[in-house]
Amino acid sequence: MKFSLAAVVAVASLASAVPVAEPVAEPLVKREESLNAKFVAKGKKYFGTCADQNRLNTGSNAAIIKADFGQVTPENSMKWDATEPSRGNFNFGNSDALVKFATDNNKLIRGHTTVWHSQLPGWVSQINNKDTLTTVMKNHITTLMTRYKGKVYGWDVVNEIFAEQGGFRSSVFYNVLGKDFVKIAFETARAVDPDAKLYINDYNLDTASYAKTQAMVSNVKSWIAAGVPIDGIGSQSHLNSGQTSGTAAAMQALCSAAPECAITELDIQNANNNDWVNVMKACLNIENCVGITVWGVRDNDSWRPNGNPLLFDSSYKPKGAYNALISALA
Ligand SMILES: *[C@@H]1O[C@H](CO)[C@@H](O)[C@H](O)[C@H]1NC(C)=O
Repeated sequence: MKFSLAAVVAVASLASAVPVAEPVAEPLVKREESLNAKFVAKGKKYFGTCADQNRLNTGSNAAIIKADFGQVTPENSMKWDATEPSRGNFNFGNSDALVKFATDNNKLIRGHTTVWHSQLPGWVSQINNKDTLTTVMKNHITTLMTRYKGKVYGWDVVNEIFAEQGGFRSSVFYNVLGKDFVKIAFETARAVDPDAKLYINDYNLDTASYAKTQAMVSNVKSWIAAGVPIDGIGSQSHLNSGQTSGTAAAMQALCSAAPECAITELDIQNANNNDWVNVMKACLNIENCVGITVWGVRDNDSWRPNGNPLLFDSSYKPKGAYNALISALA
């Protein structure tokens, strides 16, 4: 909320007669340092977080995001179950709100996600005809991306398509269409918004030698060689303390396979400050790593309820890990 000068003067002139409380529109977060500003000063595009209306309307989340983060990813509001709960019936209330917040506050947006086996409505999982599934998938991608065309920096076009042991995860998309669904999805996305960066996103890509990391690297290289329009690889990076020593080598491998790369859903259970610094440096030291997104603002709003995995405590105070990142960016 903004106060006009006239309103401030009016309040001030009353002050001599009646004690007037300070007008507080929302909890203000004022710090000398902004994590995003310091990260961007090192040549990166953003340091972001996930959010949605429920968070933005609670406590200090919006104020912290305005002060410290340069990018938002919708935590849930752009997923298929939220946006197209029944065939052809689209619902954009919550995603519009997130996009409006981001646009009003100059935050970049990562669109998340068009094709994913989870948070997928039953009517899609039940399709077993190739033509029907192709039509439905193309329509979903086209409708969602058209609505936010020109407003979204990058999209997770496909999410979590690999199996832990390498190869493809069993999903309605893979089971009905084979791996062609990836090419169809990316080509559809490119046609809708040629300026958006198109990403393939996955988790457990945290060790360079792990089968799933290698599957990501080799498949993306061959898709790109075959002309599939993939711009980036996202590594979700849902981590535990200690695992972060592998992040630099894993990101080197992933980032060498695509024009750009990003850490897209970072949280670290039971982290030491150094775990956070390791992950941030992994991105800083790789030229085509464009940014880091953490998966939430304060610990007790995390989808991983244990191990305090975020940068702010339950009172919205920046933790030691936050200060360690700021120091490492000095
Ligand atoms: C998080 O912690 C705050 C402060 O202790 C509390 O008010 C709030 O209800 C907690 N939220 C959740 C989801 O546990």
